[in-house]
Amino acid sequence: GYLAASASEPGQSQAQSGEQAQQLTVLYGSQTGNSRGVAEALAQRAAEAGWQVNLTSMGDLKPKQIKDESLLALVVSTHGEGEAPDDAIELHQFLASKRAPKLDGLKYSVLALGDSSYEFFCQTGKDFDERLANLGAEALLPRVDCDVDFEDAAEQWQVQLLEALAPHQQARTQTHTSAVAGGFSASDYSKQKPYSAELLVSQKITGRDSDKDIRHVEIDLGESGLNYQPGDALGVWFNNHDALVEELVSVLKLDGDAQVSIKDQTLSLQQALLEKRELTQLSPAQVQAWAELSGDAELQAIASDKDALRGFIHRHQLADLAKRWPVSVEPQQLVDLLRPITPRLYSIASSQAEVDEEVHLTVALVADEHYGDTRFGGASHFLAAAEEGQTVRVYVEPNKHFRLPDNPETPVVMIGPGTGVAPFRAFMQQREADGINGNAWLFFGNPHFEQDFLYQTEWQQYLKSGVLERLDVAFSRDQAHKVYVQHRIKEQGEALWQWLERGAHLYICGDAERMAKDVHQALLDVIADHGGKTREQAEAYLENLRADRRYQKDVY
Ligand code: 2AM
Repeated sequence: GYLAASASEPGQSQAQSGEQAQQLTVLYGSQTGNSRGVAEALAQRAAEAGWQVNLTSMGDLKPKQIKDESLLALVVSTHGEGEAPDDAIELHQFLASKRAPKLDGLKYSVLALGDSSYEFFCQTGKDFDERLANLGAEALLPRVDCDVDFEDAAEQWQVQLLEALAPHQQARTQTHTSAVAGGFSASDYSKQKPYSAELLVSQKITGRDSDKDIRHVEIDLGESGLNYQPGDALGVWFNNHDALVEELVSVLKLDGDAQVSIKDQTLSLQQALLEKRELTQLSPAQVQAWAELSGDAELQAIASDKDALRGFIHRHQLADLAKRWPVSVEPQQLVDLLRPITPRLYSIASSQAEVDEEVHLTVALVADEHYGDTRFGGASHFLAAAEEGQTVRVYVEPNKHFRLPDNPETPVVMIGPGTGVAPFRAFMQQREADGINGNAWLFFGNPHFEQDFLYQTEWQQYLKSGVLERLDVAFSRDQAHKVYVQHRIKEQGEALWQWLERGAHLYICGDAERMAKDVHQALLDVIADHGGKTREQAEAYLENLRADRRYQKDVY
């Protein structure tokens, strides 16, 4: 097999030579950073235990290199209907393909993250486990599948894995922690231990007549020591809105003071709903449970049809269920039915080179009409309703897959309609502070010029000073037909192609569902039309850009 061939090369066979510490590869596939967080924690522990650790995103591993591994810890999440994170897709497919090598010298362990209210719970992790085993690899531990509150299970897995690995560790080991140590934040604050920051500003920046309510939020990181880079995200914990909790308690005819327990903690139902439970995003399993409880035929029909259910959970919240399909439910039963509240990530809209210990966000208030009631998004409502001086619990979620080029001379093309413009404000602040002129091109779009031109005066100043070289805007509803950023991209195709040929890095931030896909297609058109390429060649060109980290996305 492949592994035998590479392991028999001189100096490579670590088990025999004993000169090198045995290497442990910690591989993660992460969409929102949870898997990466667990992988980093494991890498640090393993390094402390004397392992030489190679911590890598699946997106940075050439799939064939998997055959060079001998000890592998794999952490991967699953999204929506059983989908793999973007950085895991290539390896996931490769291991199921005919090209996959035999892996009978590999020992591994899989930690799978997921959400048990979905049908394909932890599917990506299950697939990796199965595929590695089918290729001949040996599991060091049974796979561990974690639910949304993954922390305890993930912690246990790390401890057990290090125990299982111990017999494979060389007597004479060297510690190579430097590569790992560099990846950790200097601050002690984390998702589980957020910093209680002060909210400085939460200001609406869309016009009075806008259909959107977009906020510019400024938060003081004070003495926390929290640091971030342009491209990073801020994790924001939130409490549910008082009015929403009151409505639920009253519609369900419950007593807010009733005692409930969550893990080892006893608290009032009201406090549990305010602080501990997700109220603004339904899961399929909750709708199914509610259909059972209510005995309502209409709801049961929806709950038993996968496609109908998927649409339904996007157009309903728990409070809508409670109002339209009243049920009788015990306080503890309700709490058990709900998922833990989880923080939301926002792309940071500032650079510390400009704002020091502050962090800025651009937050769209999620507000939808459901049966005549306005239903809000949990975190965006919290931030929009927050008063100056109020506490916000935050942590920094680094995103090394969304970074300005190392070389300041490298041109950057930034595509950020709507709140997707946030990280590009950070990029511009950084480049201005670094004294970099020109070579920056922004595509921005929103419904109306008058109402929705986010940070308009800032872009105009950057244009004037030359920090921003080009700005193309698409105000979709200012004319009879829709104009989007991808239309501007195609109009500017020749110039954009020249920028790419000059080595430009491409960045997309914003809506993943439609915008990022449409922009991807527009980029393929530009490359094909102006680079004189076939469709396949254009796809290969863009794929090369991605592999060279010249095509980076922060989409949600
Ligand atoms: P619309 O709402 O007028 O359709 C930010 O949300 C901007 O992105 C809005 O102007 C919105 O236009 C636009 N938008 C909607 N769908 C889009 C798509 N598929 N591609 C690019 N922009 C889109």
